[in-house]
Amino acid sequence: MVDILRYPSAMFNVRSVPALVFALVLVMLPSVAAAQAPAAPLPKVLVIGTGGTIAGVQDRPGTLDGYRAGEVPVNQIVAGVPEVARFAEIESEQFLNTASGNILPEHWLSLSKRVNQLLRDRRDLAGIVVTHGTDRMEETAFFLYLTVKSDRPVVFVGAQHPATGISPDGPANLLAAVRVAAAPQSRGKGVTIVMDQRILSARESRKLYLRFGGFSTGEMGMLGVVAPDGPTYFFAPLRRQGLATEFDVDAIDTLPKVELVYSYSGGDGPLVADDTRGVVVATTGYAPGERVPFDAIRRAGTVLVQTFPTGEHVPGVAVRPATLQTDAAPPIVQAQHLLPQKCRILLMLALTRTNDPWEVQRIFAEY
Ligand code: SIN
Repeated sequence: MVDILRYPSAMFNVRSVPALVFALVLVMLPSVAAAQAPAAPLPKVLVIGTGGTIAGVQDRPGTLDGYRAGEVPVNQIVAGVPEVARFAEIESEQFLNTASGNILPEHWLSLSKRVNQLLRDRRDLAGIVVTHGTDRMEETAFFLYLTVKSDRPVVFVGAQHPATGISPDGPANLLAAVRVAAAPQSRGKGVTIVMDQRILSARESRKLYLRFGGFSTGEMGMLGVVAPDGPTYFFAPLRRQGLATEFDVDAIDTLPKVELVYSYSGGDGPLVADDTRGVVVATTGYAPGERVPFDAIRRAGTVLVQTFPTGEHVPGVAVRPATLQTDAAPPIVQAQHLLPQKCRILLMLALTRTNDPWEVQRIFAEY
């Protein structure tokens, strides 16, 4: 018997050696090629900072005490979450650094113009993330939902605990937002808010409370989740948004003045300034004393929109009759499942296109 320790070549037939070498090369080739192939470039995501608690500094770090929102620059916020570099090549830009209570309609306009310009000029961007205070995030995000002319994702994100507080939620929220902005499946879903691993349509999202999980869409509008293996969508918005909207921020310098009022038991209607072009009424039904002043407002040419305080669906829309009686009061425009503060934003934009309440009703039925 041959001793294979002393004569290892005896393990195989000498004539089969070339075949064995050839087989080995074939097996190893793919891994050698993979090691040499350049890695696919990561999608590019721009993070635009506007402030808020995600940029907040706690005065007594490690406690749940007060803090100052809008302090930490956005590049530092991004640098604090190195994990994002696994999913995207990140750039950042500081637009503002403030508490979102300071964000005004003129900031909505300039932010929307900037995002439109970036998405026009930077074809290399997969998407944009906007860091924002949570108090007014749902309003700014909805304005951009109606005015950003792109199908690429624009994702709003914030935090309920400041970076130096106990259990900050900003880093995990930012990571999730970047993953959503980088994902090709996020295209065409409209502007979204990503908080607590939920992907929420900006049309429906609302801040319900200050704690984690405090962002919700109510009965409709949660599009998906950010799962461990990435953004997973279940729904997409059907109403007009993004590329399908008729609003052009580049043609607008100021937004029309629109007030928002509550109707309540024993109320006697609002006082509105002469330059007010529209009023949104949050109501479950008018008190008798409110009818006369609200009628007078619409007869004077101010467009009146009615919605439920909770933003629930108002049944039916006003339909323009075939023949209009000249003395008929203009209709009260009925909102379609839209929070009062979002009705105000849609009415501001509608009034940049028309003063006709029937046409405003058409807009409220489509968006
Ligand atoms: C703010 O809205 O700027 C403060 C509150 C927050 O971001 O949670």
